[in-house]
Amino acid sequence: MTPANPRPLHIACIMDGNGRWARRRGLPRTDGHTAGEEALAEVVRSAAHLKNIGWLTVFGFSTENWVRPRTEVRHILSLHRKLFSRTEEMNSNNARTRWIGRPFTDKGARTPVYVQKAITKAIADTAHNTGMAVTVAFDYGSRAELIRAAQRAMKEGVVSPESIERNLYDPTLPAVDVLVRTSGETRISNFMLWQIKGCAVYFTERTWPDFNAQELNEAVAVLTHRAA
Ligand code: FPP
Repeated sequence: MTPANPRPLHIACIMDGNGRWARRRGLPRTDGHTAGEEALAEVVRSAAHLKNIGWLTVFGFSTENWVRPRTEVRHILSLHRKLFSRTEEMNSNNARTRWIGRPFTDKGARTPVYVQKAITKAIADTAHNTGMAVTVAFDYGSRAELIRAAQRAMKEGVVSPESIERNLYDPTLPAVDVLVRTSGETRISNFMLWQIKGCAVYFTERTWPDFNAQELNEAVAVLTHRAA
């Protein structure tokens, strides 16, 4: 925690570059995603140990990612099942699993039933933990989230920052403190456009499977530089 920011931090990650990581090694893209899921497990461990991170939100699969080749989509979905099954690790990190994305029953939502079940179980099995909340954005797009929030706010009869915020997928998520994007891309994509207002950004050339505890520290340190 920095003196200027005494509450636990919210770090959000756009985990980019799995494909490039694999290509550089002459491996199939799917191997890059497998390595990416393992890197995430490691980052969760490191973040839990840092103690000043209260929320870690990661972009696991977007509303735009469904157009990728079927085998790749299938592989990424199975990795989500693996990720959501890491209950023992989450419990030993005292961390809660959370999810944001198009609600399963909403028009256009695409989360397959087996992933829905994995998400629901992971949330229930880790709900008792009191430490960091790890939120996976799956079948998530910020525009879809904001359109839904605006529609619901209109039904409530008032469209205001407060009513939009109340109607976000997870209204308990605080503002993001640092947004990380790996692999040299300096874009935001369609990720948490409401929640990132005013946040610091940390762009790194490193591809996601190579992102580690040291880089996480560097990302958090951006706040110290900003406060100085
Ligand atoms: C981008 O790499 C990454 C994604 C499609 C989303 C993140 C997915 C993972 C980290 C894999 C598994 C993670 C979870 C949460 C289970 P890319 O394919 O766009 O890489 P490229 O830009 O180098 O082609």
